[in-house]
Amino acid sequence: MTAAPPPSLPVDLDGFERSAATSLDPATYRYLANGSGANVTRDANRSAWDRWMLHPHVLRDVSHVSTATTVLGAPVDLPVLVAPTAMQRMAWIDGELAMARAGAAARTVLVTSMAASYSVEDVAAAAPEGTRWAQMYLLRDAGRTRRLAERAREAGYAAIVLTVDGAAVPYGRRRLADGLQLPRPFSFPNMLLPGEPVDTPLTDLVDDFDPGVTAADVERLAEWSGLPVVVKGVLRGDDAARAVDHGAAGIVVSNHGGRTHDGCVATAIALPGVVDAVAGRAEVYVDGGIRAGIDVARALALGARAVLVGRPTLWGLAVDGTPGVVAVLTALREELVRVMAFCGASAPDALTRDLVDAAGNPEPPA
Ligand SMILES: Cc1cc2nc3c(=O)[nH]c(=O)nc-3n(C[C@H](O)[C@H](O)[C@H](O)COP(=O)(O)O)c2cc1C
Repeated sequence: MTAAPPPSLPVDLDGFERSAATSLDPATYRYLANGSGANVTRDANRSAWDRWMLHPHVLRDVSHVSTATTVLGAPVDLPVLVAPTAMQRMAWIDGELAMARAGAAARTVLVTSMAASYSVEDVAAAAPEGTRWAQMYLLRDAGRTRRLAERAREAGYAAIVLTVDGAAVPYGRRRLADGLQLPRPFSFPNMLLPGEPVDTPLTDLVDDFDPGVTAADVERLAEWSGLPVVVKGVLRGDDAARAVDHGAAGIVVSNHGGRTHDGCVATAIALPGVVDAVAGRAEVYVDGGIRAGIDVARALALGARAVLVGRPTLWGLAVDGTPGVVAVLTALREELVRVMAFCGASAPDALTRDLVDAAGNPEPPA
């Protein structure tokens, strides 16, 4: 993208959230918005990005600024990917189909949840030109996971995202929001085997999450699918290194938007340790609390190849379907362009580690 006059509107993803909060019923909004426990981790994810203060370069030619990059070799127009979020029909009538069209229109990667309300095949057909990755959990019934990995490959998905922060789910889930009503009929076509009732409740399916998942499963999934495997839900360098030792092509530093267990480290704090441990052997991505272009710039400067955004894409979807999500992604890209120009960075690769430092923060978090 060529530098253009500054857009007149500020990035305000909070405005999308406020609009979504009024258009969704209160229980649905709470389900989408909340983390687990007292929301300590969800909120820390957001505030921790502010720890990283910019040390911008000047006297660098920023007549042209491009946010284009690649992820696992696929070109994207911006280093912001659509995070997998379950049951998008709760936010919009044709949920994942509308989200897929938005990902393709914005020319970025769409990550489809295993717990999507539409099948991987239907999502692919909705935007065949888009780049898609399929997110999945390892289930105790490994045949179910294997079948989905094969279906994803057949439907043209370019990678498998193995979410590994669900291992504790069988030990007790967080409660769904009080009064939450799922649209009917509601099914989870990616989690079912042929012949199973389409209305099998999600709670039965997630009880099958495998608490025995280990780094060796990365190899199993790669073998089943023939696709690169990205491991999502990593917060420590040693775990990331182990996943890469077992063939992970990418790592997503993530605490599931603070939804799995409250009290986890914020992803902005965990990211540098993971980047150091991976040491360029795989791509590192990060999600959690990214709400503005400056957060994207901070993440890239800390070594992320790209970021994922979860709730903001749901707010865009709830407000206006495909155009709403495109507006959210466009707002992030436009602010990223401004921040890059301010930092003297004409391309994502020029967002380097020296551009951010916690020491300049007037009140660094403990
Ligand atoms: C409503 C909701 C549903 C989610 N469902 C999934 C899921 O099915 N699989 C998964 O790996 N992550 C899931 N996530 C986590 C997101 O992929 C992502 O890690 C998180 O939302 C990032 O934080 P953010 O919402 O602050 O951007 C979900 C998040 C939300 C908010």
